[in-house]
Amino acid sequence: MRQKILEALYRSKNYVSGETLSKRLGISRVAIWKHIQTLRKEGYVIESSTKGYRLVSSPDLLLPEELPDLGVRVYHFKEITSTMDVARKLAPKEKEVIVIAETQTKGRGRLGRYWHSAKGGIYFSLILRPKISPLQAHLVNLMAGIAVAKTIRNLFNLKAMLKWPNDVLIDEKKVCGILAEMEAEADIVKFINLGIGINANNEVSYYEKSAISLKEVLGKEISRKELFLQVLREIKKREAFLGSPELINEWKQLSSTFNHQVRIITPTGTIEGQPIDIDDEGALILRTREGNLKRIVAGDCVHLR
Ligand code: BTN
Repeated sequence: MRQKILEALYRSKNYVSGETLSKRLGISRVAIWKHIQTLRKEGYVIESSTKGYRLVSSPDLLLPEELPDLGVRVYHFKEITSTMDVARKLAPKEKEVIVIAETQTKGRGRLGRYWHSAKGGIYFSLILRPKISPLQAHLVNLMAGIAVAKTIRNLFNLKAMLKWPNDVLIDEKKVCGILAEMEAEADIVKFINLGIGINANNEVSYYEKSAISLKEVLGKEISRKELFLQVLREIKKREAFLGSPELINEWKQLSSTFNHQVRIITPTGTIEGQPIDIDDEGALILRTREGNLKRIVAGDCVHLR
């Protein structure tokens, strides 16, 4: 019912009378009024007068009814442990879905870290089923990083850069983190759950010195809906080109990792050197101080000088 009332308000540029709504939807005027009150509590600004109700503005929530048809099922949570938990449960049952949360209580970062997920940020997971080998799965991280960096550049004219493998930075501060969890069988990927967290209208710099939000950079709130939809579009554009050299080239052009000496922390130790390339599986090629070339598939990268 809530959805139907919203649709009626959206459709009409002007006032819709309580009587019209009540007749159209087959419920009493009091019931309509109660729904309007609930919508107002959710952040919808709805004017009421003797002429009826008029929608003035909507909250910037990523509710399915606020989004255009994305061609896949959208799950939305005001609060959830982690969108990755939901995606993991759904992956064996549903082909492709989008799981969105306004906040997460147990947001997961890479390498077992915690991901702060305060209100105002954008937190979502996608179930992807790319036709690639498990060795190429890492490319999904790179592709998502490109999609977010491109979107930020296009929408806000900010010089978003990438840090290997998939952090999106503005002035060397992290504005977006990406997490991919894969399930594979023999030599084929069954699914990859791709989680993206964007510091949008939340504030992060006071508790995380090396992070920043778009609101903090721009000094004003942004449209989370517009940003989210544009990131999805940029991902869709590239999904079919996961194994292609164009994707790797695009990543290299957006990366600031090659401008730095780096320290890479891997599960087996730490290594320092000068990044010189990434290969067609997205692994980083590093020249060590001793002049040896090392290929690093996964790890945490710190930009040094
Ligand atoms: C990182 O940089 O460490 C990766 C952070 C990934 C965060 C996103 S937010 C949406 C999805 N749900 C999670 O719990 N984590 C990812």
